[in-house]
Amino acid sequence: MTQAPQQVPYTTNNAGIPVESDEHSLTVGSDGPVLLQDHYLIEKMAQFNRERVPERVVHAKGSGAYGFFEVTNDVSQFTKADLFQPGKRTEMLARFSTVAGEQGSPDTWRDPRGFALKFYTEYGNYDLVGNNTPIFFVRDAQKFQDFIRSQKRHPATGLRSNDMQWDFWTLSPESAHMVTWLMGDRGIPKTYRNMNGYSSHTYMWVNGGGERFWVKYHIKTDQGIDFLTQAEADELAGTDGDVHRRDLYESIKSGNAPSWTMYVQVMPFEDAPDYRFNPFDLTKVWPHGDYPLIEVGRMTLDRNPDNYFVHIEQAAFEPSNMVPGIGPSPDKMLLGRLFSYPDTHRYRIGPNYAQLPPNRAHSPVNSYAKDGPMRYEAANTGAVYAPNSYGGPAADVGRFGDVAGWQTAGEMVREAYALHAEDDDWGQPGTMVREVLDDAARDRLVSNVSGHLKQGVSRPVVDRALQYWRNIDKVLGDRIAHEINGG
Ligand code: NDP
Ligand code: HEM
Repeated sequence: MTQAPQQVPYTTNNAGIPVESDEHSLTVGSDGPVLLQDHYLIEKMAQFNRERVPERVVHAKGSGAYGFFEVTNDVSQFTKADLFQPGKRTEMLARFSTVAGEQGSPDTWRDPRGFALKFYTEYGNYDLVGNNTPIFFVRDAQKFQDFIRSQKRHPATGLRSNDMQWDFWTLSPESAHMVTWLMGDRGIPKTYRNMNGYSSHTYMWVNGGGERFWVKYHIKTDQGIDFLTQAEADELAGTDGDVHRRDLYESIKSGNAPSWTMYVQVMPFEDAPDYRFNPFDLTKVWPHGDYPLIEVGRMTLDRNPDNYFVHIEQAAFEPSNMVPGIGPSPDKMLLGRLFSYPDTHRYRIGPNYAQLPPNRAHSPVNSYAKDGPMRYEAANTGAVYAPNSYGGPAADVGRFGDVAGWQTAGEMVREAYALHAEDDDWGQPGTMVREVLDDAARDRLVSNVSGHLKQGVSRPVVDRALQYWRNIDKVLGDRIAHEINGG
């Protein structure tokens, strides 16, 4: 029996009109010339020229998946946020990324990893845009752009430059904790599934009675922490630059859905002024002994996007997306970030980015925003202003009107944070080196740092770097100096 030819759909242009050929331009005779009236050819070429949106200025290379978050413990005494109420299950999207590399860069470069989560809650999108590190390199948004430029490519050579990196770090001692972390084992996770996520910032939680708490999120991998050595990572960069993207995709595809358990550290609101560390300083952790982890729930990623560009490239995370029961803290980095993300989305994707599939809320959007490029859905077709007497939405002040804020007063200044009793830049990284790492991890740290410093870092910067490491830990600094200077 002969087999019927497989039914494939016919090709159309973007307007749905059947096209005459997939292969041949419209020409005068088989040898040309090509006719301007071949608008299908022109459509194909013009559309191709516009296929890209600008890559993210940081975190350009990423991978993501959809999943769900389930509450496993009752934290309603700390927050009224609906996604954290007992028994709740919320759909979500996660995107993991490297920071400094471009879209085509290897997954295994030493770098922090982005850990961006979007929860589609009953009252809009909650975005928790963290990293796989509980801390960061700088503590004021004023320094972020300079920091990033020092990690990206040199303006003259177009090359990444260890000299720029160490120059910036050693002139910015607040970076010491994060640099110690980065140069250690966790600076290159084995896979995205084998790393933790952290809010890094302190946020505010507000409960149903209006009580306020300061919180830090810890999202711990259920697959276990695992890492690549520098040598393993270097080899993979050459043989399988997309290894982490592949791993995430293949795991989920094969039914091996990765999961993470979310915890919070909760600080009573009134503890903040007298805590031994400034609790809003992004370069510091709250030691677990001071504020133990409290379980909240589990997130599971079980669904690969069916189109990478639509769902992951166009995903727009923004720390300013906070839902009732959650608010910011006085962390100066966080407050800077609240502006930056929606701004870059308007530039990178367009002003109506919130209507795209990964970004659209799963709850009603009753916004007064209107029109603009590519808007295809109008929430309000009646009144376009508020207040109005034609049934347009009105803010429910009684239900949602409380501001998650804090009391503040003072002169306007440009100053560092006020120091708390144990605030300094070297203490916490020193604790990590001496009390958290074991001998083998310390050996790898020495090797990673000295290897990095040996690649194109000028002598004055190397000398400053050696002092920087001796400030963190004298023994460790001496060992790095020995590796570099020899003898
Ligand atoms: P703990 O002993 O309670 O915590 C140490 C934590 O260090 C562990 O829980 C683990 O975090 C993390 N850790 C283990 N190995 C590494 C590594 N190779 N690289 C980076 N982190 C690692 O002590 P404290 O809470 O008192 O903190 C002591 C030091 O530990 C801090 O100064 C800080 O440098 C580091 N740390 C602290 C964290 C915190 O939030 N308190 C979080 C991470 C690091 P996890 O359990 O999250 O995997
Ligand atoms: C991405 C700015 C600090 C985590 C981005 C992007 C910008 C940006 C402009 C690109 C977003 C896009 O195009 O979609 C800033 C500024 C910061 C800052 C101005 C400091 C003032 C941080 C910190 C963290 C962080 C401290 C982690 C705690 C991320 C993540 C992404 C990202 C995870 C990628 C989001 C995604 O997957 O789409 N940041 N950032 N950033 N940032 Fe930051």
